[in-house]
Amino acid sequence: MSDPILTLYQGLERLGPGAPEDVAWAAHVADVPPDARICDAGCGTGADIPALMAVAPVGHVTAVDEAKLFIDEVLARYGTTVRAYAGDMVKLKGPYDFIWSAGAVYFHGVTKVLRAWRPVLAKGGAVAFSEPCLFTDTPSEAAVAFWGGYTPLTDAAGIAKQVGAADYEVLATRRVSDAAWQSYYGPLAERVEALRRNADPALALVLDEAATEIAAWETVRGETGYLLSVVRPA
Ligand SMILES: C[S@@+](CC[C@H](N)C(=O)[O-])C[C@H]1O[C@@H](n2cnc3c(N)ncnc32)[C@H](O)[C@@H]1O
Repeated sequence: MSDPILTLYQGLERLGPGAPEDVAWAAHVADVPPDARICDAGCGTGADIPALMAVAPVGHVTAVDEAKLFIDEVLARYGTTVRAYAGDMVKLKGPYDFIWSAGAVYFHGVTKVLRAWRPVLAKGGAVAFSEPCLFTDTPSEAAVAFWGGYTPLTDAAGIAKQVGAADYEVLATRRVSDAAWQSYYGPLAERVEALRRNADPALALVLDEAATEIAAWETVRGETGYLLSVVRPA
């Protein structure tokens, strides 16, 4: 495998912050039925799949990611208990009662993605997604820089506006916890150190960037993070 980013992330359980409690909370807010058809959009290596299966014990989960390597890991981990395919999460087929998307919508923009998902949501269906968010009116430069120039970066009210622009309503929001970030950055930091020994220059650069991000998080975590929003077509 030559892509240093994939080298860093392959095999990691989480590719972004998250916790089973967040999935359970969002499913409760969205009133997800036990037989729900669920999509994990931008599933990565499938960290949230067990929690999604738990909220719909007689439903099914379809996991979608553009990286085939990650989908192969999902299939190796969960086998036939989950449907999984490599494809574009913006072009889902559906229908789905619940679309879950952790740390992936921001690659494409909240309004654009929610509009694209509207036709594939079943009647009464809902979406839960996490999005970079500022938790202060006076963010430091470091807090803004943490997101690497992400221009739609805004606060909870700003995210709600983007949701409204897609003609959805916000059912509830909550901040992704520090523990959820730790469950991502803890194993990632270990992986960075393990890979350093034999890293070529391209991989070394990626490792340095990851280490810098992890260190930066410690200083900015009071000011910024992910906001989890549960939304439904208005
Ligand atoms: C930060 S990772 C989060 C992965 C996973 N949800 C988690 O929390 O561990 C974002 C994921 O979104 C995927 N992604 C980004 N754009 C995508 C697209 N258009 N279609 C499918 N997957 C996409 C990436 O490949 C990556 O696996």
